[in-house]
Amino acid sequence: MIITVAQQKGGAGKTTLAAQLAVAFAAMRRSVATIDIDPQGSLSRWAEVRSQRLGENNKLTHVKATGWRSSQQAEQLAKTHQVVIIDSPPHAETDARLSVRVADIILIPVQPSPMDVWATQATLQLARQERVPTLIIPNRVPPRSNMAEGILENLDQLGSPVSRIRLGSRVAYAESLLNGLGVIEFQPLSTAADEMAALAREVVRNMSMQQRKAAA
Ligand SMILES: Nc1ncnc2c1ncn2[C@@H]1O[C@H](COP(=O)(O)OP(=O)(O)O)[C@@H](O)[C@H]1O
Ligand SMILES: [Mg+2]
Repeated sequence: MIITVAQQKGGAGKTTLAAQLAVAFAAMRRSVATIDIDPQGSLSRWAEVRSQRLGENNKLTHVKATGWRSSQQAEQLAKTHQVVIIDSPPHAETDARLSVRVADIILIPVQPSPMDVWATQATLQLARQERVPTLIIPNRVPPRSNMAEGILENLDQLGSPVSRIRLGSRVAYAESLLNGLGVIEFQPLSTAADEMAALAREVVRNMSMQQRKAAA
């Protein structure tokens, strides 16, 4: 399956989600490849640190893709890997569209802010045009905040499934990436690790549900 992480708003958590989920799927014994099509190259930086640190134990294949070739590269990698995760650039550029078109599901990280919710509508529209299912991932959700709950309720009205698993704002997400790791490897017993493992299962569950619906 090809998973594209997309969201026009920068800083929403795309790269964080792509890297953390890649490690979570690898921990589920799936073969995983990651593709970075963001010219900023943050995921590729992480992958470099990772391969220096882990060498043969890396478990992940990483490719820094270029422009229009990215979807071809994704399809190629999908032949030899069970999961391919694409980290896409912000803005609805051609590259972002191609990475949506090639995907089996689009994951959209959204922080509980009006700007994130507004930007999500554009990303959902792109996915609808390309007829690819979506799953909104609430990210950096503060515990017990009425304001955040109010904003998250708006997400339910955008016409896309919303993940029941929400990600909190946790230092371990950033700290693990700095070390070339996922939080599941860096702090396996942490709340963040539990959260990320649960999210990976939720993504699989949601994908098979949407595929069954589409087939019916
Ligand atoms: N759940 C989270 N908890 C803590 N920090 C986060 C979380 N999600 C993202 N961040 C931080 O927010 C910043 C932007 O995240 P990033 O994944 O780079 O977003 P994007 O790729 O969408 O631009 C980074 O500094 C990252 O460490
Ligand atoms: Mg990024």
